[in-house]
Amino acid sequence: MNIIIRQEQIEDVNEVCHVVHRAFESADYSDHDEHNLVNRLRNSTNYIPELSLVAEYEGKIVGHILFTEIKVGNQVLITLAPVAVLPELQSKGIGKKLIMEGHRIAAQLGYKACVVLGHDKYYPKFGYKKASQYGIEAPFEVSDDSFMAVELIEGGLADVHGVVEYAKQFFEK
Ligand SMILES: CC(C)(COP(=O)(O)OP(=O)(O)OC[C@H]1O[C@@H](n2cnc3c(N)ncnc32)[C@H](O)[C@@H]1OP(=O)(O)O)[C@@H](O)C(=O)NCCC(=O)NCCS
Repeated sequence: MNIIIRQEQIEDVNEVCHVVHRAFESADYSDHDEHNLVNRLRNSTNYIPELSLVAEYEGKIVGHILFTEIKVGNQVLITLAPVAVLPELQSKGIGKKLIMEGHRIAAQLGYKACVVLGHDKYYPKFGYKKASQYGIEAPFEVSDDSFMAVELIEGGLADVHGVVEYAKQFFEK
């Protein structure tokens, strides 16, 4: 399966919206607003164009991942939210490719760590551990297991503690 991971372009926006909508349509723990969240985050100062990536298969967009800036204390890190793969193409390694390529680019850009709120069985495959272990807290009620962080460079979370400040667009509808 030849999957290309590349930066999202302006002409991809509608297709990305469709993919994110479809991916979350029947997902648990979803408010089914993730496609609108992606659209809102593109207009945020926390948006990082290099970290809005699409997965392309046979000329079509089949997956998308977005990382945006967050603050923890006086440090700028990133958060992974959301990641989406079309239902009919899930469990074929596309999500993994998007996450790993995103981490690689983020480290290259100088981001030291990434925070995610998500499935505690999925993200540990990519090095994520409970954020509480690093002294990082969510700004909302969340189960300890599902709020996770990963160092993108060694020691990236050594001096990071505090409550995560997300882009305000996460809380708008
Ligand atoms: C989560 C998602 C992006 C993963 O993409 P993917 O291409 O299906 O994932 P991969 O093929 O890289 O990995 C598949 C593995 O992850 C597991 N997995 C996928 N979704 C999972 C979930 N929601 N919870 C736990 N494990 C999950 C699969 O069981 C599979 O495990 P295996 O490798 O042991 O067989 C995709 O399933 C998706 O779009 N889901 C709906 C939207 C969503 O929930 N996004 C994440 C929000 S945190």
